[in-house]
Amino acid sequence: MADYFSTISTIIKNRRTIKPFMMNGGKIPDEQVSQLLELADWAPTHGYTEPWRFVVYTNPADFCHQHAEMYKQNTDAANYIEASYTNFYTQGDKVSHVIVAIMERGNLPKIPVFEEIAATAAAIQNILLGATALNIASFWSTGGMILKPAMKTFLKLNDEDEVMGVLYLGYTDEQFAGVRKIPLSEKVKWV
Ligand SMILES: Cc1cc2nc3c(=O)[nH]c(=O)nc-3n(C[C@H](O)[C@H](O)[C@H](O)COP(=O)(O)O)c2cc1C
Repeated sequence: MADYFSTISTIIKNRRTIKPFMMNGGKIPDEQVSQLLELADWAPTHGYTEPWRFVVYTNPADFCHQHAEMYKQNTDAANYIEASYTNFYTQGDKVSHVIVAIMERGNLPKIPVFEEIAATAAAIQNILLGATALNIASFWSTGGMILKPAMKTFLKLNDEDEVMGVLYLGYTDEQFAGVRKIPLSEKVKWV
């Protein structure tokens, strides 16, 4: 039998945050992005609310230019930084696909909001792990305007829904080592 544990361990441990500027502009086939979304759909879900929703941009500039404009329109002059605008505007230049990840609050009141957020985070992790297995670089970001009310308005979300982040997918030529700063022993208590 295939050594599934060894395979999945390698994928989990090798998944790295790779920021857009570290990507090389290579284009991922849409079919592979669809396969990643199919993995997302198999995240655990309490009560089958299946709260994960995704908006996929095959042209990252469509999202990034909008993100930059959103920053300009919603930042007062005292806090506005032109370099941030440029950064948001150009963020997709070496990215292949942008996926906006959303938690859509279901209509089962017995399922607490945090469980729907947790389920959507698990769905996102499925995407990141699938990407790693396909040699696709990924960055899960909540920066810029992503968590601001303007983004919810732009995406036409209901009050109870949440933007979970934006996933920037692409390819990279570099390799990155992972770091964990707190020993696992401090995070686990065996009883
Ligand atoms: C929910 C979430 C949001 C994140 N948002 C940002 C972000 O806005 N900017 C950023 O630089 N990194 C962001 N990160 C990436 C983390 O900084 C990254 O995961 C961390 O450096 C650990 O690296 P690793 O993923 O390679 O282990 C985010 C990660 C998570 C889980």
